[in-house]
Amino acid sequence: MEEGASVVTPEPLDGAEATVETSLRPRRLAEYIGQSSVKQNLQILLTAAAQRGEAADHVLLYGPPGLGKTTLANIVARELGVNIHTTSGPAIERPGDLAAILTNLEERDVLFIDEIHRLNHSVEEILYPAMEDFGIDVMIGRGPSARSLRLSLKAFTVVGATTRAGRISSPLRDRFGAVYRLDYYDASELATIIERSAGILGVTIEPDAVTILARRGRGTPRVVNRLLRRVRDHAEVTGDGRITAAQAEAAMAAMDIDHEGLDTTDRRLLAAIVQKFGSGPVGGAALAAVIGEEVETIEDVYEPFLLQLGFLDRTPQGRVATERARDHLRGLGYDVPAPRRGERLDAGLWDGITSEGRSGSETPA
Ligand SMILES: Nc1ncnc2c1ncn2[C@@H]1O[C@H](COP(=O)(O)OP(=O)(O)OP(=O)(O)O)[C@@H](O)[C@H]1O
Ligand SMILES: [Mg+2]
Repeated sequence: MEEGASVVTPEPLDGAEATVETSLRPRRLAEYIGQSSVKQNLQILLTAAAQRGEAADHVLLYGPPGLGKTTLANIVARELGVNIHTTSGPAIERPGDLAAILTNLEERDVLFIDEIHRLNHSVEEILYPAMEDFGIDVMIGRGPSARSLRLSLKAFTVVGATTRAGRISSPLRDRFGAVYRLDYYDASELATIIERSAGILGVTIEPDAVTILARRGRGTPRVVNRLLRRVRDHAEVTGDGRITAAQAEAAMAAMDIDHEGLDTTDRRLLAAIVQKFGSGPVGGAALAAVIGEEVETIEDVYEPFLLQLGFLDRTPQGRVATERARDHLRGLGYDVPAPRRGERLDAGLWDGITSEGRSGSETPA
């Protein structure tokens, strides 16, 4: 992967990054920046549980990668003053694996299940009664003499995390008392995160440089923290280590990240829609084939950010590059052909672009 393409990937890059992330992770709710409504609701839920001396309700966290789901799961356990057991959907292969985890939980512990949408069905079925009644049914013996025995568990809290809420089965979703959606952070929240991280890393960064990084951070704490570390390297090698605005700009240019925070893959994706598909609509599979990325990667990593920037729109027929995206590419010197017209359903998008109105439709290729 090109350097520029990886630095803004909201997913963790490697083990070394995971280590740094742990050091930058807020430990308490009060330290957790942004997501104010989630924080407020969670605070109430946790306080109420603590007052009753009971396990907190099960919590489902969803949202794009790198926004702080794992961080929040750890905060929940810390605020409750209990242990956290961390696992993930793909890690639990058989029902017996989950049963082993469940029977090891202490009263009020947190069981954090990352990528919970990837639990297989037979495992999920064990989880239902466990979450609902703190019990599991185990089969004793085989054949005609087999019987089922109910084992009771200590009360515990499941914190589930997923980037794809739509993939969670509704019976599972229904067992969560609280469902919180994490959203992209705004520039001022990202700036606060950068300042906090710079403090922990012991780096001096000028306010203008903070602004430059925050604007390019894809609304994602993981990305701004990574940009900060890369810019620090740049400043240490080419200057005295202090991060100035000029240092930040130079580092961004070296990483091929443009002023909207788009990397080479984002631009390739937009350029493909604009140049090869007449600005859309185009389906995920066709787009993935043209730019050589997985459909899932496009949907989880690139599209959410481009949608949020207003560069992409989703229509029932597929993705459409907006006029903002077209302007952005034009500004960067891309060839921007006229959009293919005639999709009545989203004709409003082309208002002001087409002189002859919406009637002269031609069938999209
Ligand atoms: N609200 C926040 N305030 C400060 N830092 C944050 C916040 N949220 C996340 N971070 C930072 O961003 C990094 C990534 O967060 P985290 O690992 O919790 O994301 P995630 O949502 O679990 O991502 P994934 O979907 O890839 O598992 C953390 O190491 C932490 O330093
Ligand atoms: Mg995580």
